[in-house]
Amino acid sequence: MDRKDIIQSTEYGNKAEAFEAFDDIPTNPHLGRTIGDVIQQRYGRRDFLRGSLGVAATASLFGATALTAPRQVAAASARDSRYVFDELQWGNDVDHHIAEGYNADILVRWGDPITADAPDFDVMNQSAEAQAQQFGYNNDYVGFAETEPGRGMLCVNHEYTNEEVMFPGLGRQDRSDFEGMTADLVDIEMAAHGGSVFEIVKGADGKWAINRDNPANRRITANTPMTLDGPAAGHPRLRTSADPAGMTVLGTINNCAGGMTPWGTYLMAEENFHGYFWSDVLDAEGKPDISAQPEAASMDRYGVPGRWYAWGQYHDRFNIDKEPNEPNRFGYIVEVDPLNPDAMPIKHTALGRFRHEGAETTIAADGRLVIYSGDDNRFDYQYKWVSADPVTKANSHFGSSLLSDGTLYVARFDADGTVQWLPLVHGQGPLTAENGFASQADVAIDTRLAADALGATPMDRPEDAQPGPNGTAYLMLTNNSRRAADQTDAANPRAESRFGHIIEIREDGGNHSAEKGTWSILVLCGDPKVEEVGAMWNPETSENGWFGSPDNCAFDNAGRLWISTDQGSNWGRTGKSDGLYALETEGDLRGHSKLFFRCPVGGELCGPYFADESRTLFLAVQHPGTDGTKDFAGFERDSTFEDPATRWPDFNPNMPPRPSVVVVTREDGGVIAG
Ligand code: FEO
Ligand code: CA
Ligand code: CA
Ligand code: CA
Repeated sequence: MDRKDIIQSTEYGNKAEAFEAFDDIPTNPHLGRTIGDVIQQRYGRRDFLRGSLGVAATASLFGATALTAPRQVAAASARDSRYVFDELQWGNDVDHHIAEGYNADILVRWGDPITADAPDFDVMNQSAEAQAQQFGYNNDYVGFAETEPGRGMLCVNHEYTNEEVMFPGLGRQDRSDFEGMTADLVDIEMAAHGGSVFEIVKGADGKWAINRDNPANRRITANTPMTLDGPAAGHPRLRTSADPAGMTVLGTINNCAGGMTPWGTYLMAEENFHGYFWSDVLDAEGKPDISAQPEAASMDRYGVPGRWYAWGQYHDRFNIDKEPNEPNRFGYIVEVDPLNPDAMPIKHTALGRFRHEGAETTIAADGRLVIYSGDDNRFDYQYKWVSADPVTKANSHFGSSLLSDGTLYVARFDADGTVQWLPLVHGQGPLTAENGFASQADVAIDTRLAADALGATPMDRPEDAQPGPNGTAYLMLTNNSRRAADQTDAANPRAESRFGHIIEIREDGGNHSAEKGTWSILVLCGDPKVEEVGAMWNPETSENGWFGSPDNCAFDNAGRLWISTDQGSNWGRTGKSDGLYALETEGDLRGHSKLFFRCPVGGELCGPYFADESRTLFLAVQHPGTDGTKDFAGFERDSTFEDPATRWPDFNPNMPPRPSVVVVTREDGGVIAG
């Protein structure tokens, strides 16, 4: 199907799904290189295709680490780490559900006022001015900067907007080439993007609530001025007519996952930025024709312009015919100081430009700052940033040089179980002027092209990547329906992978800054009963516990891994709503998964984030009532503002579904799953 067919297809119930399907057409031109290159798999392909796993298969698949670890020690530590809760029953309905013995309370919803003078939400009369002081749309990353026990700043990304359920009488706009959009609606969308930062306080009753009166509360939107640092700051390729210095950008967009730095600042990852750029120059099929663009090669690799939103019709900076350099100013990691509303956010170009899913930080054994970040596109790469200097008290502050002086690496997963981190450094290897990289600025702006040149491994859509204890990291490879059988490799072993997998990395010496480590596959997702799926779970995993399309993940303070899912329209293939799962990484239960929370229909689960010494867990339910509602028994149509599949969380007949942050606590106030 070409772009027009996908947009008009009834298979995709909303714009986000349709454009994601369109994005299935990969932009990475170097796929041929891996075929046969690492095809001699680390594990036999027959084992992967086996549906249910016997003991022997489990032992051979669960990786060298589990096999070489002293059995008794591993088993003992596993017992200590077990998740103590009664598993939730799988399913999918209009409401959310949590395991027995826990509270799951709504903390904040789209439109809720977050500043002292914000107006109350009026969904029939929304304005950009009101939205810019109210909680934004499609909450994804949640972080927390604790200021004292029971108090701190919640930091939430607002990834994108769904106009068909936000605005009355509008419907899906991509199908009509945005004919219903107006300048006012576009401005509301822009104000609903970005992030929210606001104080929350835990009351005597153990419930968290927003303190609207904290003067540091603020919205960050697609119009918030931000500065740049790192090698691309001020570069001619970042200069525009509004910003001839190339140093000040308006706004941040498509902020998906993120991270918190060790010093308590908030990192927002700019993911599908390409979708916001417009062009009126189209080819015969209605696709943007960038052949006359000076940045054509770069735009092609990044999928610019995506034309997912009509912003470029009202704001010239989003129209590449008028501002060809504006896309070079997005696709970065943005740092925000949650305690200082006057501090202008910083786009850290040293961390590279790609569709950053997240930016999870850790301090390596050698004291340096390490940030893992995936490029969420089919056949794109996994990256890691390592600061030049160790983290010290003196450099632990907003705008630290730890985010500009260092090395960005991209991963190559070898079939022998080694992961090599390849440095993206101008002048080294192929990253020279002869190959189009005149300086480190070009490497920072065209990170994807630089990583292509180094021979990184094209992955099955790298979503969140979470550093764990003892030099481990866990990579969520969410799915890749476009990988052909002859494109499989050891680290991406399934063709047409609908359900994704999780890779565990163990960095050499237990040191996250190492340039080399080992990798193994923790689980291959999907239904273990269906042989063709080729799933791999610990055999103890129940019918409730297996999942598809891992997206976000977090560790609790006992070092245990939690995974949230985003199946999109694929949920119809599992029958299960998205949710949160507890996944064992050690000992005899390695690869064992249990369901803890599930979303209302059509919602994706984001967060998760543990705070309050793991007595509080923040979850974000994004786009409730939208994805795959044609498969929702009894509804079986696309959601609209007037006729949504669910009106979660208000269940008010005059209110559409609202993306919301949920706070999970244990009824007895104890540690989650402790
Ligand atoms: Fe926004 Fe990669 O999920
Ligand atoms: Ca994500
Ligand atoms: Ca995470
Ligand atoms: Ca996702």
